[in-house]
Amino acid sequence: MNTEEFLTLQEIVVAAKRNLPPGPWAYLIGGAETETTVRRNRHALDSIAFRPRVLRDVSRIDSTWTFLGQKVRLPVMLAPIGGLESIAEGGAATAARAAAQFGVPQMLSSVCKPGLEETAAAAKTVRSFQLYVRGDDAWVDDFVKRAMDNGFTSFCMTVDVASYSRRERDLIGRYVKPWRAKAQEGANFQSGLSWDQVKRFKDKHDLPLILKGIATAEDAKLAVKHGVEVVYVSNHGGRQLDHGLGSVAVVPGILKAVGKKAEVWVDGGFMRGSDVVKAIALGAKAVGIGRLTGLGLAAGGAPGLVRALEILEDEIRICLGLLGVTSLAELDPSYVTAAPAVSLPDTFSAFPLM
Ligand SMILES: Cc1cc2nc3c(=O)[nH]c(=O)nc-3n(C[C@H](O)[C@H](O)[C@H](O)COP(=O)(O)O)c2cc1C
Repeated sequence: MNTEEFLTLQEIVVAAKRNLPPGPWAYLIGGAETETTVRRNRHALDSIAFRPRVLRDVSRIDSTWTFLGQKVRLPVMLAPIGGLESIAEGGAATAARAAAQFGVPQMLSSVCKPGLEETAAAAKTVRSFQLYVRGDDAWVDDFVKRAMDNGFTSFCMTVDVASYSRRERDLIGRYVKPWRAKAQEGANFQSGLSWDQVKRFKDKHDLPLILKGIATAEDAKLAVKHGVEVVYVSNHGGRQLDHGLGSVAVVPGILKAVGKKAEVWVDGGFMRGSDVVKAIALGAKAVGIGRLTGLGLAAGGAPGLVRALEILEDEIRICLGLLGVTSLAELDPSYVTAAPAVSLPDTFSAFPLM
């Protein structure tokens, strides 16, 4: 199917499932253990309703945004995905091409092929680099240098992987992920990570630091105390600690703790334009899309992801107009309110017509 023919995100999900072998499919969509956190991510988004305003002139809508000072087409970032090469030919480089063509930032995972230099060379996009700390200080510093040399303008440490979780879909399917073998070598560094390394990074490097995997106001306060520029609220898409809260549910408390001292970003369960609008209304400054990135790529490579982003943009623009605002900047928490979710949440509950 020509990717132009996809009219809905639902069709993209169906095509992705058709195209992927069972192992990579399970890896992409799965979560940890009972997948309660996965479902809570959706449940938290579904538990927010809109409060639309009417009779305002919304004939011109602007859905552009800034990402750490750089202009982007949507407040959406491709979240880091390890092993993307198992989901789409060309892996991270293919994602970079889609990000550049559409105009959103890509956060590149350190466990993704073809790696930092080749991915940066593949396309000119707004670049952020995400590191799993699996080596000593010199090892980290080498990544920082390579990232800066290759035009990455911010650096992210993922901090919610002190131990690797039990992803039962992968275990049951006997799916062996080639990139996991190497991870074992650095596992001790990852589990030994502490605020000392955050302090060391901030003392040594002059690059905005993002901490990905913050889930409490207490840790958000510590992040701010350490001078971190971005508190990235995430539970790894429910792929790490099971029985966590839905990501978007903790955003208001974290925003309160952080104040204006850092930006707050969020990911986890974002599948629709209306989901993105909810997070921005609450006060988040960027939304990461993980599985949706993989689904777009699996459905049709770079053009498939571009098409997914176009549909997401269409949904966002329609949502803004129906809320009575002409730009994302006009949103504030008065446009949302708590409401009971009406469907049972799961990874695909945002696509009920599938
Ligand atoms: C297949 C897959 C691989 C991932 N790999 C990484 C990774 O290498 N580094 C990281 O920080 N997060 C990783 N994540 C987590 C995402 O960056 C993001 O936090 C999560 O996917 C957001 O939830 P969503 O998938 O519901 O959008 C991965 C997620 C998926 C789905």
